[in-house]
Amino acid sequence: MSGLTLRSVRKNYGDVPVIKGVDLDIAHGEFVVFVGPSGCGKSTLLRMIAGLEDITGGEVSIGDRVVNDVEPRDRGVAMVFQSYALYPHMSVYDNVGFGLKLAGTPKAVRDAKIRDAAKVLQMEHLLDRRPAQLSGGQRQRVAIGRAIVREPDVFLFDEPLSNLDAALRGDMRMELARLHNDLGATMIYVTHDQIEAMTLADKIVVLDAGMVQQVGSPLELYNNPANLFVAGFIGSPKMNILQAAVVAGADGPVLQTEMAGGGLAWCPAPEGLPVGGKVSVGLRPHALARDPAGPVTGEVRLVERLGNETLVRLALPSGQEITAALAGQEQIEPRQHIALGFGQADLLLFGEDGQRLTA
Ligand SMILES: Nc1ncnc2c1ncn2[C@@H]1O[C@H](COP(=O)(O)OP(=O)(O)OP(=O)(O)O)[C@@H](O)[C@H]1O
Ligand SMILES: [Mg+2]
Repeated sequence: MSGLTLRSVRKNYGDVPVIKGVDLDIAHGEFVVFVGPSGCGKSTLLRMIAGLEDITGGEVSIGDRVVNDVEPRDRGVAMVFQSYALYPHMSVYDNVGFGLKLAGTPKAVRDAKIRDAAKVLQMEHLLDRRPAQLSGGQRQRVAIGRAIVREPDVFLFDEPLSNLDAALRGDMRMELARLHNDLGATMIYVTHDQIEAMTLADKIVVLDAGMVQQVGSPLELYNNPANLFVAGFIGSPKMNILQAAVVAGADGPVLQTEMAGGGLAWCPAPEGLPVGGKVSVGLRPHALARDPAGPVTGEVRLVERLGNETLVRLALPSGQEITAALAGQEQIEPRQHIALGFGQADLLLFGEDGQRLTA
């Protein structure tokens, strides 16, 4: 049984801090996804867990054991990289079993493990082939097979599907979900892909500049982002962010933004916000819909037809552009003027410090 705990984990490269104090609890069997912009430290954190990078400060524990000074091979983890790094001159069978052979595992035991892994990954018919005779998805399966035969308590995946085309990614994504169900092992998975993060994760960890911004289930992060960074990062297309001012209204302070010409007071301000204050208003593209009387008016700049929905880029009178994801196949053309509406409950408000304001 191996959960994982990170306590105040830090990493410096020379004088440059890259991981700036990460605390994280991962339960046994959990599927945890790390997301964040390029360079935020996802791979570094994964490599520290694997033991491939020294830990500058803090503690990494796997199960009940602090592993800061434990060799990678003794940590009970297996890592699958973006580049599969298969041996081209060896068969699939030998590629999958190579680590076991090096470790001196008896032939019969090795054979059983290789065949078990091949069965789980549905590649029994590929065991005699060489990597060059495989598709990208099949090669990726071999790389995962190599990790499975080691029977690790914790699997670490660093963007394992990013070299595959969209259709294959979709297939492999479902295979990974099935694998997680079958093996019941703890998995930590780095990806740039929103759909992978949302569908695979029990828990998503959003990182920015070496710090954890928020940890939660996919829907917690989508529905209740703690700050502007998470709001903008989770969800596709990206959440629209509009600037608003708190102004005096007849029944108390209201928010005013420039969705329609001249500015429009359209939302009571959360309690405690002084008149004159500034607020950022978040509105998801999917919260907008066609509404001739709606408050969001502007000129269409771009239309993207996806079949099941229509993405519209709209320039507001203020000049700011926002995105609407309209259901179905809307008849809208560039340069047309349209009006959109939304529900009050769809608005998310953030203070000047970027933190979420809850009314
Ligand atoms: N060996 C190294 N020496 C110095 N700096 C490094 C080294 N490896 C990584 N870095 C720096 O550490 C930061 C984090 O890198 P890391 O590879 O963890 O990012 P990442 O989140 O995985 O990015 P990506 O999404 O592009 O893979 C980056 O600023 C990177 O330039
Ligand atoms: Mg990386």
